[in-house]
Amino acid sequence: MQESRRGSAPARGNEPIRRVQRKGSYGIDAPYLLPVLGVLFVANIVNGVVSGSVWPFVGAAVVMACAGCGLYTSRRGKFLVWAELLDRLELRGDERVLDLGCGRGAVLLLAAEHLTTGRAVGVDLWRRGDQSGNAAEATRRNAAAEGVSDRVQLHTADMIALPFEASSFDLVVSNMAIHNVKGRAGREKAIEEAVRVLRPGGRLMIADLWATRLYRAHLEKLGLTDVSRHSLGWRMWWSGPWLPTFLVAAAKPDRQERACPGASDLVGGGGSERAEPGAAPDRRGT
Ligand SMILES: C[S@@+](CC[C@H](N)C(=O)[O-])C[C@H]1O[C@@H](n2cnc3c(N)ncnc32)[C@H](O)[C@@H]1O
Repeated sequence: MQESRRGSAPARGNEPIRRVQRKGSYGIDAPYLLPVLGVLFVANIVNGVVSGSVWPFVGAAVVMACAGCGLYTSRRGKFLVWAELLDRLELRGDERVLDLGCGRGAVLLLAAEHLTTGRAVGVDLWRRGDQSGNAAEATRRNAAAEGVSDRVQLHTADMIALPFEASSFDLVVSNMAIHNVKGRAGREKAIEEAVRVLRPGGRLMIADLWATRLYRAHLEKLGLTDVSRHSLGWRMWWSGPWLPTFLVAAAKPDRQERACPGASDLVGGGGSERAEPGAAPDRRGT
């Protein structure tokens, strides 16, 4: 897969157009939707032929357009958008980055390309209903294909019970994954876990299509700073403008600048300024 993109980072506006080259194989998100759209398409065509009306054909065209838009987002758009988001962070290269629900590594491996001595750590339950061909082995193959195996670690774990020590990551990212956790309480727990493992001064970026207002409100409640929520634009529309992706971003305050003294002990990490970066033993193993 090969993508081109413009102006990857505003701070480097004069930089020539760079190319994001993907050599791995990343599947498609929510693959069960394709047969559903296929049935809708055929039903519209049959209806049009039988009824002699033009409107079912219009319906079939709309279904095709929705499918094309979703496929674009899954196969290209999310790579382009995340490449830009990660570029803008201007990582040093020694960070520890955690990807919640990394799947086959779309965001995880883009992040790994920014690292030298740092590590990109992916956590997932490898659900095939959420992404086609989802498996730790597929992600490992992709890491090898992208040439970043030495910087990538995978853990099979639930994002609501992360197998890592508090304050052990500089950056936590997640793309299209937290909405898969059932219920408000579960999603809030996932957010709390993300905040717990983030070091004071670290940053959090969550892209999702559901529940992003909930994420923002919960991050504010937990005392994070610079909490923002904005649409990621047409390249991350899932079927059309009615299903956009929003990015929720936040920073964990350094303990001396903790915004809300009464906030949960999650903020501040309850540990040293930069805790031992090693992960606690994997609860499930890969
Ligand atoms: C739509 S896929 C997105 C994968 C990847 N972030 C990407 O952008 O390609 C959602 C991912 O979340 C994972 N997932 C769902 N629930 C999870 C949970 N409770 N803990 C960890 N991962 C989970 C799924 O296995 C799947 O890999």
